[in-house]
Amino acid sequence: MRCGAESVMVFYSDSGSKHDSIEDAMRNLARSFFTRGWCQFEFDPVLNEWIRLALPIARATLTAPEHARWYRYQGTWFAGVNALPNDASGAVGESGPIRGSAVEFIESVLGLRGFAWDAAQVSVCFPGYPQPMPGESDGRARFRRERDAAHVDGLLPEGHERRRHLREHHGFILGIPMVEYNADAAPFVVYEGSHELMREIFAARFAGIDPAAWGDEDITETYHAARERVFAQCDRVELHARPGEAFIAHRLSLHGTAPWRDTAVAGDDGRMICYFRPDPFGAHEWLNHP
Ligand SMILES: [Fe+2]
Repeated sequence: MRCGAESVMVFYSDSGSKHDSIEDAMRNLARSFFTRGWCQFEFDPVLNEWIRLALPIARATLTAPEHARWYRYQGTWFAGVNALPNDASGAVGESGPIRGSAVEFIESVLGLRGFAWDAAQVSVCFPGYPQPMPGESDGRARFRRERDAAHVDGLLPEGHERRRHLREHHGFILGIPMVEYNADAAPFVVYEGSHELMREIFAARFAGIDPAAWGDEDITETYHAARERVFAQCDRVELHARPGEAFIAHRLSLHGTAPWRDTAVAGDDGRMICYFRPDPFGAHEWLNHP
């Protein structure tokens, strides 16, 4: 079986009202999202204004002493997990709540509204990403270099043995490029259709177990085998978007970050993306929500 990587045409109706064409566009984005596990939004002036006001605050996190611990891989990645000091509406500084077509998609297509926005991750890659970490195995460094450090969010490694448990139930992964950089600057990678493969595999793994206890289950072997199946069966795609555009990945999709290539072009801010990954529901919805 291949993953659901059929091509998805995005079309706009040339007749009817503007409202109809917006509805058509949403429908096409929805089809792309549910088939491939991701979709990308065109330039949105509303989001762009949020970026304009959030960017200085995002930049400041990279030099804040309390976030110094987020530098990884010999300083080629600032992980910036929950570093943006936005409130539960996504507002930071004078930006006001996060709004725009991506948020409309989350509300109308994913059916998620009224949840608390998490403090966004400020993820910044720099030239040379990813360098090895002192003391880590060759295998782990290679996985980052050759397999984009591909992972499913929320299945966290714990302890020295890095045993995996379901600990977070993100509703989606919304990527907001904050600055200009080209497609070779450590792009976001997603394996198309992997969300449905993961859903199938974890539905089988958790069958008959109370969702409240799924986090207690050691799913390390299942997760590693699932990842190998995705590598064998799903198409790998790299996403590139400019400020004012955005992309969203399905919460169950296998995704990661490609290395910084020699042909990358970026400014002093590197490849800065803010990711929102709110937790609007529990384990059962994490697996079963569309
Ligand atoms: Fe992730």
